[in-house]
Amino acid sequence: MQPVLLDLAASSPLDPKVRDCLIQHLDEVHGNPSSRHALGTRARQVMEEARRQLARCVGAAPKSIVFTSGGTEANNLGVLGSVPRQGPGRILVGPTEHASVRLATAQLAREGFDVETLRLTRDGQLDLDHATERMNEDVLLVTQMLVSNELGTHYPVKQLARLARARCGKVHFHCDGVQALGKIDLDLEDLGVDSLAISAHKIHGPKGLGALALGPNSRTGPLIFGGSQEGGLRPGTENVPSIAAFSLAADLAHEGRHAFQESAEVCRRELEEALTGISLVYQDSMDGARILQTIGCVKSICAVHLPGPPAEVWQHHLEKHGVFIGVGSACQSTSKEVSPALLALGLDASSARQIARFSFSRETTPNDISIAANALHKVARSLDKLSP
Ligand SMILES: Cc1ncc(COP(=O)(O)O)c(C=O)c1O
Repeated sequence: MQPVLLDLAASSPLDPKVRDCLIQHLDEVHGNPSSRHALGTRARQVMEEARRQLARCVGAAPKSIVFTSGGTEANNLGVLGSVPRQGPGRILVGPTEHASVRLATAQLAREGFDVETLRLTRDGQLDLDHATERMNEDVLLVTQMLVSNELGTHYPVKQLARLARARCGKVHFHCDGVQALGKIDLDLEDLGVDSLAISAHKIHGPKGLGALALGPNSRTGPLIFGGSQEGGLRPGTENVPSIAAFSLAADLAHEGRHAFQESAEVCRRELEEALTGISLVYQDSMDGARILQTIGCVKSICAVHLPGPPAEVWQHHLEKHGVFIGVGSACQSTSKEVSPALLALGLDASSARQIARFSFSRETTPNDISIAANALHKVARSLDKLSP
């Protein structure tokens, strides 16, 4: 039985073309891009071509792309590298940020900054009125993701960045674009942000590689120290084969983004229909499965309320039927913490634990959803038998 992968926002398999590109460069490009001989020059040419290709996909200048070990490091660099080393100063953090942003700002709070979390409206969008109220000249950093990894919501980053620019003179605006690349149009210049984080393994590229794209007025400095690679912002010999594979993955994802969201919309509708037939008696009342709707979602990430026990129980049962779904974000899955993003949406802790994530890639088909629907029905029947 072929597994059905519906946790593709956590990570996605290598695209065969990207795999070929990676292997070819592993075999053929041996030089250190900082070496001044022919092997080094060849490696540098490959890397700079990849930088140009990646820059095109995110609307940034090639020289502004800094390769990192992934989205986590890119977010840390964009957040921690863009404020002075010590407070005072105010920092505004999006309500559903990934742990790599949230915990980086928690570190800034320990260093004397005043860190405040922005809010969602009742329908799950960013509360721009509240954000406007919280902005003043003391704000040094605003950080807001473009697409939520847990809810799929596409947030109005361009509008928020414009507000921040007008109200907070010294602000650096960081944006986590990890879940946006390959799903929506992504253009650093048009968004008006100072730094934008992306990651390769979310778009069928290799794991352990990401990038931070910087705007023209960014004041980001390094977090680690060493050589002058990546303009001194990220010292250490670059992983040239993975960088080449990343740029190809980004190009394929960027070119295919509209087709992907169209096919994801069909899958989302099928899933929505399948969920209407799934309910369980829970705490003396009938509870049904449904997709949580927030305004302006990408189609390929569905936060789903599953009735009865915590979603983790559904996850384990579905796995026995070869269907893989997500619960919480991948980085939180080992902690008992309830997702702050789900709490920001107004859910209580026990409802938040009933949320699973079904996420698609460009390879997901309606047939995958119909296999998942069958499995969901089987699991619902077995959970129903277990209920007191
Ligand atoms: C929104 C978001 N930001 C950042 C990351 C971290 O990226 P990486 O796994 O490349 O460190 C993830 C991955 O889960 C993510 O979904």
